[in-house]
Amino acid sequence: MSVKIGLLGFGTVASGIPFLLQENGEKITAAAHNELEIAKVLVKDEEEKNRLLAAGHDYHFVTNIDDIVNDPDIQIVVELMGRIEPAKTFILKALNGGKHVVSANKDLIAVHGPEIIATAKQNGLAFYYEAAVAGGIPILRTLANSLTADKVTRILGVLNGTSNFMLTKMVQEGWTYEDALKTAQELGYAESDPTNDVEGIDAAYKAVILSQFGFGMTISFDDVKHQGISNITPDDVAVAQEMGYVIKLVGDVKETESGISAEVSPTFLPQTHPLASVNGVMNAVYVESIGIGQSMYYGPGAGQKPTAVSVTADIVRIARRLTDGTIGKEFNEVSRETKLANPDDVLSHYYFAINTPDKKGQILRLAEIFSVEDISFEQILQTKANGTSARVVIITHNMSQTQLEAVKSRLAQEADFQVVNTFKVLGE
Ligand code: NDP
Ligand code: HSE
Repeated sequence: MSVKIGLLGFGTVASGIPFLLQENGEKITAAAHNELEIAKVLVKDEEEKNRLLAAGHDYHFVTNIDDIVNDPDIQIVVELMGRIEPAKTFILKALNGGKHVVSANKDLIAVHGPEIIATAKQNGLAFYYEAAVAGGIPILRTLANSLTADKVTRILGVLNGTSNFMLTKMVQEGWTYEDALKTAQELGYAESDPTNDVEGIDAAYKAVILSQFGFGMTISFDDVKHQGISNITPDDVAVAQEMGYVIKLVGDVKETESGISAEVSPTFLPQTHPLASVNGVMNAVYVESIGIGQSMYYGPGAGQKPTAVSVTADIVRIARRLTDGTIGKEFNEVSRETKLANPDDVLSHYYFAINTPDKKGQILRLAEIFSVEDISFEQILQTKANGTSARVVIITHNMSQTQLEAVKSRLAQEADFQVVNTFKVLGE
């Protein structure tokens, strides 16, 4: 028997599925207890359909979603178009039409996940999205299944392949920002709007999903403070190296006494931290938990074949459950009341890069401003002092988000101090 699939979109990730079905068909059929057949593929218009046919893609291309959701033979719909609309409408149509759904669309799941998950549940259908976080790394199922007996206390992750690829090329090979972004787009790593990758938005979507799988708490995208890589300067990179750190865009989800905190920001990682050596398009999710202690899950976070592997694994699981008669369970079955952390409880060391006139007493004045907010310095360094201007770099001891905002607003009132960047610093 074959299980028929309707694909929505035939871009980078979707076009990797036929490769797996062809090259690994025997194993996939055995695992799915069924043959998997791509019965129909939704494309945008006739022009796209003709282009794909001319390129040798021998599928039944359609341009109307109803041709898929009203087809009684299709059991699984795989959404790989990206963005919120029309993906949301199409997924809800598919679920209300009795189809199981697989998606890799973290934007949609982070923002409208609860509604889609509820619709799937009401209809007794599966909605799986392993590829939505860290592409080829099977992290969601690991958190939902393998770590079910453990209590996760913190998840740190290099969660965006595009920005990590760009940072690696810029730092290690001196590429320009523009060249690094263009190559990431050509390699199929970037989102259709790469702003999401470079501004930390894509990683923030993933942090929302990790909050659900790691902590059972459903936070909203607006609860995730996020900052991207576009403000990182060569000076920040050089200072980080000099002080024994590596800068990475890191997602950080942790549970404090008052609740959960999730943020994405450029972060100084000690060179010895396992995440510091995660380079190129590689992602890693570093989990701290009371049972295992520390564990890290590493692999390609983007790209056609790695992502298609995660998507196809979801399809296989659905096909298998259809045969076994166990379909309809939620992807993540653990949930509890969502409580957001009080900013007083969210502690970190911070890096400040501050420009100031190069004159006597400036460091003393800075020490006064920071100590009014009860913040103490761990390291302080003056660079680029030329008699006119100087850059002061400070790494603080642990301080709270409340203290961070307070000291930033104090510094903003001082004409002599211009804060160039503030990044988190992970303690040893
Ligand atoms: P692509 O942009 O390469 O592919 C999406 C395809 O869907 C495009 O061909 C697009 O056409 C088409 N499409 C858009 N709207 C419609 C529509 N209304 N009807 C039919 N087709 C449509 O994206 P990716 O393959 O890279 O990504 C797909 C999903 O996977 C996204 O949600 C992404 O976030 C996620 N993902 C991607 C990863 C990656 O490495 N690329 C990794 C992990 C997740 P057009 O180009 O004309 O707009
Ligand atoms: N654009 C995303 C990234 C794809 O670069 O990580 C994987 O979600």
